Amino acid sequence: MRHLIDSVDLTTAEVDVIINRALDIINNKEMYAEACHGKKLATLFYEPSTRTRLSFTAAMMELGGNVLGFSDAKSSSVSKGETVADTIRVVSSFADIIAMRHYKEGSPRVASEFSRIPIINAGDGGHAHPTQTLTDLLTIRRELGHFDNLTIGLCGDLKYGRTVHSLIKAMKRYEGVHFVLISPEELRLPDYMKHELGENYSEYATIEEAMPLLDVLYMTRVQQERFDDPAEYERLKDAFILDTEKMALAKENMVVLHPLPRVNEITVDVDKDPRAAYFRQVENGKYVRMALIYTLLSWHDKEPSHKVDTFITDQICNNDRCIVTTEPVEKKAYTDADGVLRCYYCDHAL
Ligand code: NCD
Repeated sequence: MRHLIDSVDLTTAEVDVIINRALDIINNKEMYAEACHGKKLATLFYEPSTRTRLSFTAAMMELGGNVLGFSDAKSSSVSKGETVADTIRVVSSFADIIAMRHYKEGSPRVASEFSRIPIINAGDGGHAHPTQTLTDLLTIRRELGHFDNLTIGLCGDLKYGRTVHSLIKAMKRYEGVHFVLISPEELRLPDYMKHELGENYSEYATIEEAMPLLDVLYMTRVQQERFDDPAEYERLKDAFILDTEKMALAKENMVVLHPLPRVNEITVDVDKDPRAAYFRQVENGKYVRMALIYTLLSWHDKEPSHKVDTFITDQICNNDRCIVTTEPVEKKAYTDADGVLRCYYCDHAL
């Protein structure tokens, strides 16, 4: 059995399998109409979502399967104090596959340790969002045809934006990819993510300076719900706004992506520009989730992917957004390629 907890749980060859499956679904929708007949997807959403939950639901429906679950933790036993581990053990008896979103970082990893069915991480706190990454990759593939040698600008909230973190991890595996980081000082990419990039990034203070270099501009919303201080959010929320004047500085075949929801960071007149791909991206999200559900259900006898081979136990994670601070899970850490000790669940340096 295989889970999808982090965007790099899939090898690049496996990413190709899923993207090619999504392209096949787009071209042969009727062939997949009963592909998951009799199967059930449980959507466990402990945090608000429109696109992700509905696209998982639509995806399973278009595969001929059924969907059950909750969209608000308050309406589930979580409000009675049930742990993720127990909820997952229970849901494992009712469904064939789980898509889970949780505000605590590392929750889906914990879930995968207790589940008898595949777990898909639909977003955990500010940590990771691998199905958005598959959506982004399918969109880049359909818009530009390849991943190698692209210059990708990431703009906005690079600190809390989980879609950014997952996209970087997945894209840095392709040849010649360069990242251009554009964010306010306070919302810079966390150090643990900068490690991931090695030499392959540069930082710019304005969109204007970076624009002519880019093949892809990935805009993001400032993640209001992760701020402890509302005044800080107010100060930073409009730091970078993409408008038609800035679009005029971009390459002719550059593409603008955004995981959505948009707040103010892209003016609506940019929507008319053919390079604005964010609404096409949403549609790709449904197809790639169809491909993912179909593939994970067919991989039931595949060896699990191992995040690391050896753990160090009893290390305390100091990230107050990590699941280990609120649930009785076994404390585990690992040493990364640079020799840094990290929490197994949320990847923060210890
Ligand atoms: C993103 C998320 O939830 O992280 N949205 C999504 O899944 N499409 C981005 C965001 O909320 O800003």
